[in-house]
Amino acid sequence: MSQRTLVLLKPDTVRRGLVGEVLGRFEAKGLTVVAMDLRTIDGELADQHYAEHVERDFYPPLREFVTSGPLVALVLEGDEAVEVVRALNGATDGRKAAPGTIRGDLSLSNRENLVHGSDSPESADREIKIWFPDLP
Ligand code: PPS
Repeated sequence: MSQRTLVLLKPDTVRRGLVGEVLGRFEAKGLTVVAMDLRTIDGELADQHYAEHVERDFYPPLREFVTSGPLVALVLEGDEAVEVVRALNGATDGRKAAPGTIRGDLSLSNRENLVHGSDSPESADREIKIWFPDLP
């Protein structure tokens, strides 16, 4: 079933010059870019996006990191896009993520782990509304 999902190429992806590499993996898989925006976000948007994590110990450094420079927000569309993107991203901690995944190949961190992908279709709907409120 065709789905949409919200993907962030986090500030480390932009800083390291990996936007083309990471976006290319999603496109090569067959997913379609339906919205894309390079922007630097403030703490308020970070709090909205990560609403379920704001009370967690790891949130302050995560907030600092995602607001530290430009990121690329994307909406990708395709069959089972939510699950497909999470599989391509790999496990949260780049040190443990399987080789062949984006994080497994390119990250050594659970903070600077390059990408975010919505964790369910419901999260995707919520996150797409936050990042791209005007997307039809
Ligand atoms: S949980 O508990 O399974 O819901 O959390 P998890 O999916 O592992 O992580 C949620 C997001 O928090 C980020 N994270 C961290 N950021 C900074 N520092 C530390 N220590 C840390 N641990 C986890 C992790 O990268 C996830 O970000 P997103 O953007 O959702 O992938």
